[in-house]
Amino acid sequence: MTTDTTTKDTAPGATAPGETVLDARGVTMRFGGLTAVRGVDLTVNAGEIVGLIGPNGAGKTTFFNCLTGLYVPTEGEVRYKGNVLPPKSFKVTAAGIARTFQNIRLFANMTVLENVLVGRHTRTKEGFWSAVLRGPGFHKAEKASRDRAMELLRFVGLDHKSEHLARNLPYGEQRKLEIARALASEPGLLLLDEPTAGMNPQETRTTEELVFAIRDMGIAVLVIEHDMRFIFNLCDRVAVLVQGEKLVEGDSATVQGDERVVAAYLGEPFEDAPGAEEVAEVEAAEAHAEAAEAHAETAEPDAEAAEAAETAETDADTTADAADTTTDAAPGKENDR
Ligand SMILES: Nc1ncnc2c1ncn2[C@@H]1O[C@H](COP(=O)(O)OP(=O)(O)OP(=O)(O)O)[C@@H](O)[C@H]1O
Ligand SMILES: [Mg+2]
Repeated sequence: MTTDTTTKDTAPGATAPGETVLDARGVTMRFGGLTAVRGVDLTVNAGEIVGLIGPNGAGKTTFFNCLTGLYVPTEGEVRYKGNVLPPKSFKVTAAGIARTFQNIRLFANMTVLENVLVGRHTRTKEGFWSAVLRGPGFHKAEKASRDRAMELLRFVGLDHKSEHLARNLPYGEQRKLEIARALASEPGLLLLDEPTAGMNPQETRTTEELVFAIRDMGIAVLVIEHDMRFIFNLCDRVAVLVQGEKLVEGDSATVQGDERVVAAYLGEPFEDAPGAEEVAEVEAAEAHAEAAEAHAETAEPDAEAAEAAETAETDADTTADAADTTTDAAPGKENDR
């Protein structure tokens, strides 16, 4: 099986060169007391492949959900080709943004072809009565939809499996089917959430070619991935999210050369790190408490010897606590899913 990524046809939803496709400004998403995304700005221009990376729990998928109407951002604004997006998923898809999901969402008991046909529903103009009466207009539209769906399956290399049930496809092919279904809505921007998760190196390479081919059809791409080789090979620009905030954005060399990015992935603290203010406050409070304790000890010299053993014990506890805190402070560790 090979992927037919040789097509140079322009996609129906293609964007004019130079146009800003996506313009997200100050996007913030809070869940109760947790701020999952904080004041993120991001643009994607026509012809670009932009990467979004960051440790587990950094807020990448939440940000995607804010772009696609699944969540209404607590603050901020998202524009697609200059227009503010409506806060409903199907309206966002109709506007021209399509996506795939980190946890594959296919209709498992439908065929491969039917899954792609479902993806076309925002683009079919035949109305309710046409579908009920099944007149010539309906049959013509249905044939056009099937032809387009088969074309997309050929594009991702799954046309020979069009009649298979989606649930019988291997994992890597299910991810490609999700891409075909997303393309069926004829988008101008495609959002991919971890498109190579669970793929072998060969499948990852094919997916890389597929994404370049999608870009060449005039569809801009924003992609989340943990596979750094994939991201840095593919992307014109990469933005790094850490604890909900955009830490760095730039070309591959800029991002790879930024030591804060490495530190964030390793969970090491660094100056001005997102969340660093809160950590500093906690440290200051702890230092203050320690100073007060030392002062109390000095005031009661007689008790010094008796307390020595206890202090040693407390120190051991504090060291253990500090070790725990370091682990917890590693961005996203508690959200490792
Ligand atoms: N619906 C929700 N309600 C409450 N908290 C949520 C919700 N969705 C996400 N979160 C929290 O928001 C934070 C960001 O999660 P998100 O899934 O966006 O991270 P991610 O960067 O996509 O991580 P990963 O790389 O593991 O997929 C996490 O702390 C997560 O638990
Ligand atoms: Mg995610």
